[in-house]
Amino acid sequence: MVSVEHSGEVAMDHTSDHKENPTNIIADLSAAKTALELILLAGKGMERTLPWLRGGKDMTLSINGVLLEAVIIVELIDRARAAREFSYAPYSHFNVGAAILAGNTTGERRIIGGCNVENAAYGSTVCAERTAAFKAVSEGFRKFHAYAVVGGFDDSMSKALRQLAQEEFITPCGSCRQVTNEFEANPCAVILARDTGEVLMTTLDYLLPSGFGPRSLGVDASTYHRRVISVTR
Ligand code: THU
Repeated sequence: MVSVEHSGEVAMDHTSDHKENPTNIIADLSAAKTALELILLAGKGMERTLPWLRGGKDMTLSINGVLLEAVIIVELIDRARAAREFSYAPYSHFNVGAAILAGNTTGERRIIGGCNVENAAYGSTVCAERTAAFKAVSEGFRKFHAYAVVGGFDDSMSKALRQLAQEEFITPCGSCRQVTNEFEANPCAVILARDTGEVLMTTLDYLLPSGFGPRSLGVDASTYHRRVISVTR
């Protein structure tokens, strides 16, 4: 594994090594014992801690081609945590927050947060990532550069269950991967943060490999313009 840290820039991108030698991919991947290890060994992830990120104010990280300043990563996590405060989860008691760094067609960038919104008809529940995604798109921000996800059970649940939820990183569900893939800047960094401070940084193309997206249909969602609809009466 290669890890380069120099002059304020941290790079951990194994994809080029792997391209040179496919047997490395197989050896690395078969050594993985957990999904988390798989993400890290496949060269599609970087694990750091929140205090470490907070400490590196001038640092820029390279997450499989996405250059992100540490301050932005920290801001995304803080905004996802703030969004989680509004989580409406009276049924699962599982509170999730997400924050997306998104751009619009004029080049403006914004961080937009969202939480999970449950419903008595359980199937009508919307996840935090999709709430944030739809909020962003509905304001013209259709180019997703990165997003952070945080989650866990509330205090009404047992300590054991709360701890269990923090042992793994909360990853976006399949529907959220598909929805965010529609608007990904390609690549789009995905930042997963535990309450205990560990942060896993990966990219959407790893979480949703070979995804079916707008490009499959010759569409660029980030520059799409609504066609004028003529109403005659
Ligand atoms: N949930 C999210 O908001 N995002 C995810 O990526 C996974 C699951 C929500 C949906 C539901 O309100 C609760 O977590 C339990 O599934």
